Amino acid sequence: MTVPLQVLVTGATGRTGSLVVRELQQHPNQFMVRGFARSREKVEQAFGTTEGFYFGDIREPSTLTSALADCQALVILTSAVPQMKGIPQPGERPEFTFPADEMPEVIDYQGQVNQIEAAKAAGVKHIVLVGSMGGTNENHPLNRISNGNILVWKRKAEQELIDSGIDYTIIHAGGLLNEPGGKRELLVGKDDTLLINPPGGIPTSIPRADVAQLVMQALLEPNARNKAFDTISKPENAPDASVTRDFAAIFAQTTPGL
Ligand SMILES: NC(=O)c1ccc[n+]([C@@H]2O[C@H](COP(=O)([O-])OP(=O)(O)OC[C@H]3O[C@@H](n4cnc5c(N)ncnc54)[C@H](OP(=O)(O)O)[C@@H]3O)[C@@H](O)[C@H]2O)c1
Repeated sequence: MTVPLQVLVTGATGRTGSLVVRELQQHPNQFMVRGFARSREKVEQAFGTTEGFYFGDIREPSTLTSALADCQALVILTSAVPQMKGIPQPGERPEFTFPADEMPEVIDYQGQVNQIEAAKAAGVKHIVLVGSMGGTNENHPLNRISNGNILVWKRKAEQELIDSGIDYTIIHAGGLLNEPGGKRELLVGKDDTLLINPPGGIPTSIPRADVAQLVMQALLEPNARNKAFDTISKPENAPDASVTRDFAAIFAQTTPGL
């Protein structure tokens, strides 16, 4: 009998983080899952209990210590979240900004580095980090939100993860969809090639549930260690698609380094 892997998932109240917590909870023989969040209320709303959750803020490294004690793996699913600036008038485009104390440099860089350092101090052996495609283009429109350079800061933190010496799996997701998982063929790539030139011109998106599945499989598959990759999905029911079930084969296509 194998001992379940003790895993902490941060961003546990987030749209993908909450799916990862649920996915891991469904496999108690393989995982003992803890969630990390900053809002008790959100955890209670999403999970109906706060049992198994640790509360803190990734800007405050000391709040990560007890959450990571005795963990073998960490899943980083925190991110600065753009918010709409007021309500747009009819015909106006909505404008987005970040709260002043939650700019990408603070959350997506320092906050992730705090997690990596706390994980290293706790003896964590593997970190799975979900980031974003588009990071090779400094002029990407997402970088212009409040001049926050979100994709630039995300990449800097990912490089720190690689340099940390802890085993890593970095998943650069395409546009995230709130759609069911397990119904699509997943594609992996590197350096934004899937974004710049998607095969057959397909949308460069992927359901959050499929990303959650990739995270779980990455925790299990040795071949996912020390890899970074982009991922999108073929549309559901695409005539040339076969639903992805062999994750070892997916990870075999991925490579080390950003
Ligand atoms: N949206 C897209 O289409 C897209 C595309 C590609 C990649 N991505 C990336 O994929 C990842 C997951 O995205 P998502 O949309 O599922 O995430 P999300 O719903 O925006 O969740 C972000 C999480 O980070 C938490 N968080 C933020 N600041 C924190 C802090 N200071 N301390 C503790 N927790 C904090 C939030 O907590 P609260 O719940 O308390 O706010 C939330 O749980 C992100 O890195 C995102 O950039 C997104």
